[in-house]
Amino acid sequence: MIARIWTGAVRKDDGDAYAEYMRETGVAGYARTPGNEGIWMLRRDVDDRTEFVMFTLWASLDAIRAFAGEDYETAVFYPEDERFLVERDLRASHFEVDTFVDRADDRPELLRGDGIVLRPLRADDVERVAEIQSQPGVLRWWGPPNEAELRRQAEGHDEAKALAIEREGELVGLIQYHEENEPDFRHASIDLFLAETYQGRGLGSDAVRTLARYLIGERGHHRLTIDPAADNVAAIRAYEKVGFRSVGRMREYWRSPDGTWHDGLLMDLLARELSAP
Ligand SMILES: CC(C)(COP(=O)(O)OP(=O)(O)OC[C@H]1O[C@@H](n2cnc3c(N)ncnc32)[C@H](O)[C@@H]1OP(=O)(O)O)[C@@H](O)C(=O)NCCC(=O)NCCS
Repeated sequence: MIARIWTGAVRKDDGDAYAEYMRETGVAGYARTPGNEGIWMLRRDVDDRTEFVMFTLWASLDAIRAFAGEDYETAVFYPEDERFLVERDLRASHFEVDTFVDRADDRPELLRGDGIVLRPLRADDVERVAEIQSQPGVLRWWGPPNEAELRRQAEGHDEAKALAIEREGELVGLIQYHEENEPDFRHASIDLFLAETYQGRGLGSDAVRTLARYLIGERGHHRLTIDPAADNVAAIRAYEKVGFRSVGRMREYWRSPDGTWHDGLLMDLLARELSAP
């Protein structure tokens, strides 16, 4: 991860107007650039001036180039800057982020199932997870791995919270959840895959049950969903064992790696229906 820093100053009377202008221009520009990981606009009053520091985090230099252009060290300015700025850095500085404690990453540290444990996916898992996802028996349902997305998930920066599935200390699959926190529609959804040699041994239902127990017990969800392909018999059976029920067939819901559309099955589980192992 890379931090980009730029500093400028305006007359104190212009502080609020400039902050508003920056939100509409620079901040909006950062926010819509893929690979931007966070934006902080800092300000302080010093004598008759207001100083601004723009501090942004980025996944890579390429992401910064997508925002600032090939000569990414040159600061980016907007038309009204001329009028506002009384002091400015003409160049932005860049630092490699050595340590970053992300309080927004609220994935559980360890969940114990019957024969598996779940723990946050880490950056050094990405290669193995991509390997598992490339196995024909997983690829068929999940499509090819996207390592950049897996890395983002490992850093805890993705809306889908990813956990590694471990069996006796070995990484055997990935399970992820997504929480809809709009109060009137609150629920969580789950998705997973296991390496081919670990399928069909009860580990999938174990992992889903373990995560479901956490989402209901610790995160307070009353309803969970999961949406396998309508012809994914093993997945449907595994989820039924946990207590999920089919509530509807979603026509031409997902596109398989061969480019054709297939039906999906919406399954849900209410908190009181979670089954014991
Ligand atoms: C789906 C998946 C996570 C399920 O985990 P799993 O550990 O294999 O599942 P389980 O062993 O807990 O349960 C599978 C059940 O399906 C049954 N099953 C497997 N293949 C079957 C088939 N062709 N027809 C009927 N039942 C079948 C098994 O017998 C078992 O039921 P049982 O315990 O009553 O005998 C795992 O198989 C997997 O990763 N598959 C590839 C990726 C995938 O499909 N992901 C799901 C996307 S929604």
